[in-house]
Amino acid sequence: MAELCDLVINNVRIASMQNNGQAYGQLSQSSVAIKDGKVLAIFDALDATYQSIKNVDGENKWLLPGFIDCHTHLVYGGNRANEFEQRLQGKTYTEIAQQGGGILGTVNATRAASEQTLLSHAIKRAARLTEEGVTCIEVKSGYGLDRDTELKMLKVAKRIAEHLPVSIETTYLGAHTVPKEYRSNPDDYVQFICEQVIPVVAKQKLASCVDVFCESIGFSAAQSRKIFAAAKAQQLNVKAHVEQLSDLKGAKLAAEFNALSVDHIEYLDPKDIPAIKQSGTVAVLLPGAFYYLNESQKPPVAALRAHSIPMAIATDLNPGSSPIASLLTIMNMASVLFSLTPEEVLYGVTKNAAQALRLANKGQIKAGLDADLCLWDIEHPAELVYGINHHRPAAKWFAGKEC
Ligand code: NIG
Ligand code: FE
Repeated sequence: MAELCDLVINNVRIASMQNNGQAYGQLSQSSVAIKDGKVLAIFDALDATYQSIKNVDGENKWLLPGFIDCHTHLVYGGNRANEFEQRLQGKTYTEIAQQGGGILGTVNATRAASEQTLLSHAIKRAARLTEEGVTCIEVKSGYGLDRDTELKMLKVAKRIAEHLPVSIETTYLGAHTVPKEYRSNPDDYVQFICEQVIPVVAKQKLASCVDVFCESIGFSAAQSRKIFAAAKAQQLNVKAHVEQLSDLKGAKLAAEFNALSVDHIEYLDPKDIPAIKQSGTVAVLLPGAFYYLNESQKPPVAALRAHSIPMAIATDLNPGSSPIASLLTIMNMASVLFSLTPEEVLYGVTKNAAQALRLANKGQIKAGLDADLCLWDIEHPAELVYGINHHRPAAKWFAGKEC
């Protein structure tokens, strides 16, 4: 008896992004059956088991999982075009931050913005990503720093999913920088984060992760440790901005707390990689910030590869270090700037990005997983990484619905 499903996509080349020993996890079958928002089965065209009223001819195009942008800061007020000009006149990112600009400049603008204004701008940025095939976005807070603005940012982030075909994962990043109210007593701010915000974020289920900017212009390893402990006490997962501008041993510390990911890691000491391996932590590479800040120290990709650390790629979309609302552009940068192969890049925005968010139901085309899928009119998956601004999905499904 034929099994009835909601949709069958026929005649496609499937890059499943499963680790099945084939490049891009390519499958031999050419049809996908979808039911209740999930992939029901992957099967051969001649197999009559799966039948649907709605059938799509994929015209031998490539079907890939929807992309996952696993590190963004896309909810914020204002912009920092003025700092872009200052940097061109010779000021560094660190100098601007030390003079009260940088993240603190965006904090002022974000505190002043209404929820509705933040939301309408965030939707526009997220739409740039979804147009390119992104179906899941992680969004961090961190431009409010006071409790209510942080909660406002997380609520706004979640509301993006009411307006676009995308799922949103939220991360509390109160430890982005020390706010002006606490300039002379940063440890009190850490205590405030641990005691007055993390428990509320957990109780209201506003985020599943807690992140820290462990850096000289952010938080020390000792301060980060307190925040990670407070997160874990509330059953929240840990992620960390580490080793972006210097080596504070943040990655090793994050691994102690089984961090889902360590992000940036340009200054990661290869000696710390075994600790990351042991904790199953994903290395999230952010070539947009590297490019934008005109850095020269590259993440230790060869050593990460040698230790089989899963690598993910993300936009880091934010108003300061990476105002780049294009994951496809970032994918090209990951290859050109960090020497990742196109296959590594595509795993980095699918399977490994899902792992960086602990999303077992996304990032691959597999029976039982979410039917977040994109059809691409290309001859080979590497084309999605090779050029810039050549491609948009020919068709897109989010939770099994065409969008
Ligand atoms: O990931 N490194 C810290 N946070 C952001 C930058 C935020 C900003 O400059 O507004 C990043 O690069
Ligand atoms: Fe970031």
